[in-house]
Amino acid sequence: MIPLVDLKAQYQAHKDEFDRALFDCIGNTRFIGGADHAGFETELAEFLGGGHVALTSCGTHALALTLSELLGPGNGTEEVITVSHTFIATVEAIVLAGYKPVFVDIDPVTYCMDVGALAAAVTARTRAIMPVHLYGQMADMDGIMAVAQRHGLVVVEDAAQAHGAAWNGKQAGLTSHAACVSFSPAKNLGAWGDGGAVFTRDGDLAAKLRKTVDHARLSKYEHGYLATNSRLDGLQAAILRVKLRHLPVWTRARQERADWYRDLLADCDGVQLPVCAEAAVHVYHLFVIQVDRRDEVLKTLNHNGVGAGIHYPIPAHEQPACRHLGYAAGDLPVTHEVSQRIISLPLFPELSRDQAETVARAVRSAVTA
Ligand SMILES: Cc1ncc(COP(=O)(O)O)c(C=O)c1O
Repeated sequence: MIPLVDLKAQYQAHKDEFDRALFDCIGNTRFIGGADHAGFETELAEFLGGGHVALTSCGTHALALTLSELLGPGNGTEEVITVSHTFIATVEAIVLAGYKPVFVDIDPVTYCMDVGALAAAVTARTRAIMPVHLYGQMADMDGIMAVAQRHGLVVVEDAAQAHGAAWNGKQAGLTSHAACVSFSPAKNLGAWGDGGAVFTRDGDLAAKLRKTVDHARLSKYEHGYLATNSRLDGLQAAILRVKLRHLPVWTRARQERADWYRDLLADCDGVQLPVCAEAAVHVYHLFVIQVDRRDEVLKTLNHNGVGAGIHYPIPAHEQPACRHLGYAAGDLPVTHEVSQRIISLPLFPELSRDQAETVARAVRSAVTA
């Protein structure tokens, strides 16, 4: 079986480094806060382009707390525009902050927010935009920021899948109010559990969020306001610190493997390959192709030992959880069609050339079967 993601291979390749970091953290009982937490916060800010970082317990809370801080708690009627072609957490974050999600369609080439659809969806109730940088490729941040500036809107980027990606040379969070990442285990930078972070150029925002995720402590048992607990664990920070050092090499390995697939599947009729926009540095969190008869092809691939998957089979606007928002499948035709045709192929830095060739052969035979 060739898995979609192979976390064991990553552990085995750097076992000594991981074990040392982990047992050092355990030995020092630095479970909350501590040197690894502080060190990771600084090192991540440097990696993301020199702004400020607030670490959180997960990406969902990073998004929700950032929106809430920038807009104030909502009453469920004011709107945040986002996409439906995303993991459900994007939508949950908007609702958790007290806002109403409004979905717009995606660009059929990049799978990210369609800027024309965004411009058309802005109303007097719109307060913010939450673009999603899906599969490792950023949305058109120039177009999105132009719409935001025209209407005075806040922009919080969902960069959960895009660690190190860039648009016109700028990483997420460098042109908007903030960008949020997730460190859930299978992400390009994944913890051994949950984790997330907010990255922003606004030092006051980061400082406020650092307080909010830690009970708004003024001192150990004195609290400035009623906040929450959404801290990143010391153990996760210790692991993430090790992984961050390897991330640039892992990203290049992902890009190389994406190129292998492109070559191996270039002349394969019936397979639509992903497109990297000219302005984009794509970090290939996922390598997503489109095919006809998707469910049959996926079944054949899985049957033949290829751990392919779908990200995501049901768009947010068609989820039972979002029924109350009143969308029909056809309201977002590109999103709906893409959700019926996509397949994610195995992609991870340790994927061997042999494995990539096996996957490509299996795809060829499944689409022509
Ligand atoms: C696009 C997207 N947004 C948000 C999240 C939420 O992150 P987390 O699982 O860390 O809460 C994820 C990942 O799970 C995601 O893929």
